[in-house]
Amino acid sequence: PFELILKRAGVSIPVKADQTALEALDDAGIEVDASCEQGVCGTCLLNVLDGEVDHRDGYLTEQEKSQHNQFTPCCSRAVSASLTLDL
Ligand code: FES
Repeated sequence: PFELILKRAGVSIPVKADQTALEALDDAGIEVDASCEQGVCGTCLLNVLDGEVDHRDGYLTEQEKSQHNQFTPCCSRAVSASLTLDL
């Protein structure tokens, strides 16, 4: 489990072990466009302001992943205890 901190909204949302970040956002009433939900299309891509991402998609390049400034909430998770998002 980890936490999503929504910087602009000023809220934090817990992501349970058995749900995706996308599902946790949806549960909290925050709609994020998604399509494949498998880390392929990049539709769900969100900007990350802080935290270390556990990238599980095949969309971002290795170089993009290493910057930890964007992630695909449909499948990727966090290495750090929280990810701060530009939402
Ligand atoms: Fe396609 Fe997330 S919905 S990469």
